Amino acid sequence: MEHGTTITQFISEEQRHASGATGEFTALLNDIVTACKMISNQVNHGALVGALGSAGSENVQGETQKKLDILSNEMFIQCNEWAGHLAAMASEEMDDVYQIPSEYPRGKYLITFDPLDGSSNIDVNVSVGTIFSVLRCPGGIERPAVRDFLQAGTQQVAAGYALYGPSTMLVLTTGKGVNGFTLDQNIGEFILTHPNMTIPADTQEFAINASNMRFWEAPVKRYVDECLAGKEGPREKDFNMRWIASMVAEVHRILTRGGVFMYPVDSKMKDKGLGGKLRLLYEANPMSYIVEQAGGGSITGTHRIMDLQPESLHQRVPVILGSRNEVERIQGYHTEDV
Ligand code: AHG
Ligand code: MN
Ligand code: MN
Repeated sequence: MEHGTTITQFISEEQRHASGATGEFTALLNDIVTACKMISNQVNHGALVGALGSAGSENVQGETQKKLDILSNEMFIQCNEWAGHLAAMASEEMDDVYQIPSEYPRGKYLITFDPLDGSSNIDVNVSVGTIFSVLRCPGGIERPAVRDFLQAGTQQVAAGYALYGPSTMLVLTTGKGVNGFTLDQNIGEFILTHPNMTIPADTQEFAINASNMRFWEAPVKRYVDECLAGKEGPREKDFNMRWIASMVAEVHRILTRGGVFMYPVDSKMKDKGLGGKLRLLYEANPMSYIVEQAGGGSITGTHRIMDLQPESLHQRVPVILGSRNEVERIQGYHTEDV
């Protein structure tokens, strides 16, 4: 019987063509895939396994943790700590770097992850996801520290996300384009269903949390005002708007049919000393890598996100990403004002 390419087969074949590949990277990606399947299973069972609701604790960023935030974090660690591919991990749900326990061998990669993105959606049964970014551990490091994770997005070896939606999907880049896989629940395998995903350069759809409008900076306000003005306005076309409150779901929509996603820095954040909402190392950088590999753009407003030199593990940055021509337009609005 004809069957599709499994993600294991796809990664193995891709790596076979990479000079110097030892199979370690392929094995690491396989463990990440297993973690995503386990998280998918928990998310899917929801209230049946008592997984919904708050855990009654806060993460390092002062956000209330959901039970599934913590469970997903534990599953991701469990699947990835034992095999000897990683030197250390860092996650949204852990204050500090997670060291590989001494009983396990250490490898040459670092991973940063957001175990459950969009977790405010869990209790209302709306799409959530997992985001990950793979980096090389600098040579000669015995016990990786925060500074070893502070690498620009351009240094990423791979990035991806799993989307727990009507179907579970895994979208991956290793720097050779973007490919999407759908989980076949019957056989427990991700199958290549969306080869070479690309983002159309133009769009008539944008995503932003408009409840923050009164805090926005002038360039963002100008862009959204012009979209809202529609056919009669300067853009001379009508725009559509979406806001799912899950970056994974928003990025997936943009990869599928184009669009712009914005979580800009605003005056309310600045008053609190924050540089944005989304976190650079495990949200903005991996998503920027995927979006750029699919032909889109990803900026802070003024600068390319992947060129930023990270300063701390949980650093927040403004994010504007998606269809290239719109992102360039928004960048223009920001730089004109400088
Ligand atoms: P997380 O659940 O990992 O903390 O991330 C949520 C993020 C992101 O996915 C989403 O785009 C945004 O926060 C939603 O923020 P608002 O609730 O402010 O709309
Ligand atoms: Mn998130
Ligand atoms: Mn999260």
